Amino acid sequence: MKKSEDNRVVIGVSGSIAAYKACEVLRGLSQEGVETRVVLTPNASRFVTPLTMGTLSGNPVYQDPYDPNVWEMAHLSLASWARLIVIVPATADLIARLAWGGAGGLLEGLVLAARSPVAVCPAMDAAMWEHPATRENVAKLSKFGYRIWGPVKGPLASGRTGMGRLLEPDEIVSRALAALRPKNPAARRPSSARAIPGDIAEPGAARGQAAPLASGR
Ligand SMILES: Cc1cc2nc3c(=O)[nH]c(=O)nc-3n(C[C@H](O)[C@H](O)[C@H](O)COP(=O)(O)O)c2cc1C
Repeated sequence: MKKSEDNRVVIGVSGSIAAYKACEVLRGLSQEGVETRVVLTPNASRFVTPLTMGTLSGNPVYQDPYDPNVWEMAHLSLASWARLIVIVPATADLIARLAWGGAGGLLEGLVLAARSPVAVCPAMDAAMWEHPATRENVAKLSKFGYRIWGPVKGPLASGRTGMGRLLEPDEIVSRALAALRPKNPAARRPSSARAIPGDIAEPGAARGQAAPLASGR
């Protein structure tokens, strides 16, 4: 993929045990020529280091909305820079914050300010995923037009098997690449053969998939 401003992806990472898989997503996108910037929640940096993420992305990593070394307001400048925002992994807590429109952290502020599509890749224990609070929060994000990619059923960090496992990194990469190429209708949605259990319908897709990337969610 040619580097251009249509190729800009912000990867948001939150504090899940699956955070290390964001490194694989980042590497996969970089290998495809996608320009990436990374935003870590404070808890995400307990799981992955800014050094690793910055090295894989080749760009600075953003963590602090009040960083005095970032002269511009990072949440706004990143929001207008991004053509796609992919949150991988998204914790239950972050999903809840996004559902009520929180802007207390850099990642939430960025999502609230964004006009580009937002894809949320949840990862959590099955009980958390199945809790009515999470169900309601995810439905709300879906209503906002955010794309919900996964989770899938599989082995979880707890040792149990269930729903809540992060969608495989290579699948996230191919969905992100497809989202960056909205003019190719075949690339907009995974084929039914690749439909992922737990992938949620996107009733607000008019703000995302179907719209030009610069103007939809
Ligand atoms: C070892 C460990 C692993 C965790 N993994 C997850 C997870 O996979 N999903 C999740 O929703 N929360 C997980 N949590 C809880 C979150 O870290 C916690 O809710 C935190 O407040 C999320 O912060 P953030 O969303 O701001 O990054 C984990 C906590 C610990 C200590």
